[in-house]
Amino acid sequence: MTTHAARTTPDAEQQIREAELVERVTKSFAECSDPRLRLLMSSLVRHLHSYIREVRLTEEEWNRAIDFLTRCGHITDDRRQEFILLSDVLGASMQTVTVNNAAYGDATEATIFGPFFVEDSPAVPLGGDISVGAPGEPCWVEGTVTDTSGTPLAGARIEVWEADETGHYDVQYDDRRTAARGHLISDSEGRFRFWAVTPTPYPIPHDGPVGELLETVGRSPMRASHLHFKVDHEGCRTLVTHIFVRGDELLDSDAVFGVTESLVKDFDRQPAGVPTPDGRTVQGPWSRVRFDIVLAPARV
Ligand code: BEZ
Ligand code: FE
Repeated sequence: MTTHAARTTPDAEQQIREAELVERVTKSFAECSDPRLRLLMSSLVRHLHSYIREVRLTEEEWNRAIDFLTRCGHITDDRRQEFILLSDVLGASMQTVTVNNAAYGDATEATIFGPFFVEDSPAVPLGGDISVGAPGEPCWVEGTVTDTSGTPLAGARIEVWEADETGHYDVQYDDRRTAARGHLISDSEGRFRFWAVTPTPYPIPHDGPVGELLETVGRSPMRASHLHFKVDHEGCRTLVTHIFVRGDELLDSDAVFGVTESLVKDFDRQPAGVPTPDGRTVQGPWSRVRFDIVLAPARV
């Protein structure tokens, strides 16, 4: 077994052999009766082989890659999904989001979903508080939901979820708590408002093979501070997105490439004692942010 592939450009005879193998493998999918699967597999083979040929992959490197994927499999269970994390840190999750949420007018940009969304979140009245005791600085969030022609969308379902100031989502605690998540329904003028906690940075799970990879290549596991949204309205494309905090020093190095400029918002810090929009008494400083959401039509 060789451990080092020749790093020089292969000679003509070698190139013919390698190209011929690509052809044979690609053709092996020719009889697949599902045309989409045929395309997915044959294109995957072409790109994979071209990667192997371009970097002149050694057998030792391939074995290490297999070992890495095996370890991703071993750490994965119904609470931990290392393959999604791998897709996230390679930018594959974000690229798939980008491909599937084509720009349309001034529709709000989508970003990565992340692993911490939970179905059946608590219903929160407009002006209510999603934090339910989650530690963090209070943050007033308000905005509207409209379509791309500016028409307010009443009855939009707005799901929100976030980590607390210690960097943990409720589902990461062992006590089955529900906190810092909920859903609201926009009013007759498409408006929404609620209390949350000011987002703070946190690391993606990095105690497994993906964390090891990040460490080896000198990358940080930290995500820029964010608040997640998922917004649904009949006739509109479902929007999964976050808002990020302007000034956060992690905006340029988000571990999963989720940041786009249009989603960076001003979280205006309010000193203790400044009256809140709803007359609530808040101990200490708080922040406020506006997020106007524009939904694309369902079929674009
Ligand atoms: C999140 O934002 O919740 C997240 C996204 C990708 C990986 C881990 C966490
Ligand atoms: Fe998150």
